[in-house]
Amino acid sequence: MNPLQLDFTKAFGPDAEQCLEAIRPEAEKSLRTLYEGTGAGNDFLGWLHLPSSITDTQLTDIEQTAERLRACQAVVVIGIGGSYLGARAVIEALTDSFDPLRTEGRTHPVILYAGNQIGEDYLSELCDLLRGRDFGIINISKSGTTTEPAIAFRILRSLLEENVGAAAAKERIVAVTDRARGALRTLADREGYKTYVIPDDVGGRYSVLTPVGLLPIAVAGIDIRALVRGAVEMERAVGPDVPFDRNPALRYAAARQALYRSGKKIEILANFHPKLHYVGEWWKQLYGESEGKDHRGLFPAAVDLTTDLHSMGQWIQQGERTIFETVVSIDAPERTLSVPTDADNLDGLNYLAGRRVDEINKMAELGTRLAHASGGVPNIRVSIPRLTADHLGGLLYFFEAACGISGYLSGVNPFDQPGVEAYKSNMFALLDKPGFEAESRAIRAQLG
Ligand code: PA5
Repeated sequence: MNPLQLDFTKAFGPDAEQCLEAIRPEAEKSLRTLYEGTGAGNDFLGWLHLPSSITDTQLTDIEQTAERLRACQAVVVIGIGGSYLGARAVIEALTDSFDPLRTEGRTHPVILYAGNQIGEDYLSELCDLLRGRDFGIINISKSGTTTEPAIAFRILRSLLEENVGAAAAKERIVAVTDRARGALRTLADREGYKTYVIPDDVGGRYSVLTPVGLLPIAVAGIDIRALVRGAVEMERAVGPDVPFDRNPALRYAAARQALYRSGKKIEILANFHPKLHYVGEWWKQLYGESEGKDHRGLFPAAVDLTTDLHSMGQWIQQGERTIFETVVSIDAPERTLSVPTDADNLDGLNYLAGRRVDEINKMAELGTRLAHASGGVPNIRVSIPRLTADHLGGLLYFFEAACGISGYLSGVNPFDQPGVEAYKSNMFALLDKPGFEAESRAIRAQLG
């Protein structure tokens, strides 16, 4: 049995199978389009069989580089979008919630992030923190030309050279980029940095199981072999030979498309586990960039519960009825903690005394799902047994496969992102980037 389980009973009620059955032929056709490589964007399908094609040699090489970087006090992962979110999602999910504050007995460096925005205060504070320290840099950019990470790298590389000298800095910098193109490739080759290649046929948001994700994840001390193993198992469990009733990616893609066609315009990914916050961020990018085009596509939003029940809960319960929820649930926590008994019981909590915190969380989850369903918010539940590397690897691959199928079900190319260029072109024009002279004149005329 697949460790990942889906529950549609609160999405479609007792008629779940009939609702899914109606869209099944189209979903199966989309699955075939994906696996036969006959759809739009079929030159970006390298992720499809990526887990099962990763070799032991590749993993060993990544582990060895990670080991070298682990000697640093901190490692800064520079990247944005697909070159950042997968690594952060896995690292935050699988490390101690207070990891940067744990100073004793550390076996891995503190992982920091840069190049995922252009905040001057953020970068200044990061430089303050790293000044005089021995740190490493993993600079990730497929195009090798993205402005946000390029700025961060220029600043942090110069700081690292100041801290440890130019020769030692080279030993502490790893570049993950295209095999031949882009400024980062040119720079890395000239400086002699250790490099990893992002395969041509794997887009950023599908790249977590390439060195883009695996290297930072390994530096953080996470078992990348288990992560890949879980993804391999899921690759087998959602393939074209697995029938509809047993294929979770196919069923999830079908369900969300059925809900979209019934008038739901927003899908909210809800978690009841604070470590999954960045899984929600990763998922938003995956589905947002893959489906939001040609003036269609579900808007992907994410909430952390129960936290956001005290902020977004009102809207979800009683706002416009154009939303549905996908709840990601972890069956069992890794730790054990119960509510203590208090003789005075002034807080009135003795009815919970002796009960596990997770039991209370699970009742919050069930109560929320029932309340939302009865308030007109269908919800799908996706559950994995534990928050471990293998189950997380499976979950990530499940969402990727379902996303590819969903894109074809929606009639879009799930593997391009032409809309992302619009802001870049305006920004370059406003900053007078060489080569953008005509755009600069046009945008200045527009601004008056
Ligand atoms: O998924 C994508 O393709 C994007 O989010 C990119 O990953 C992001 O724009 C960063 O691009 P690059 O890796 O070229 O710097």
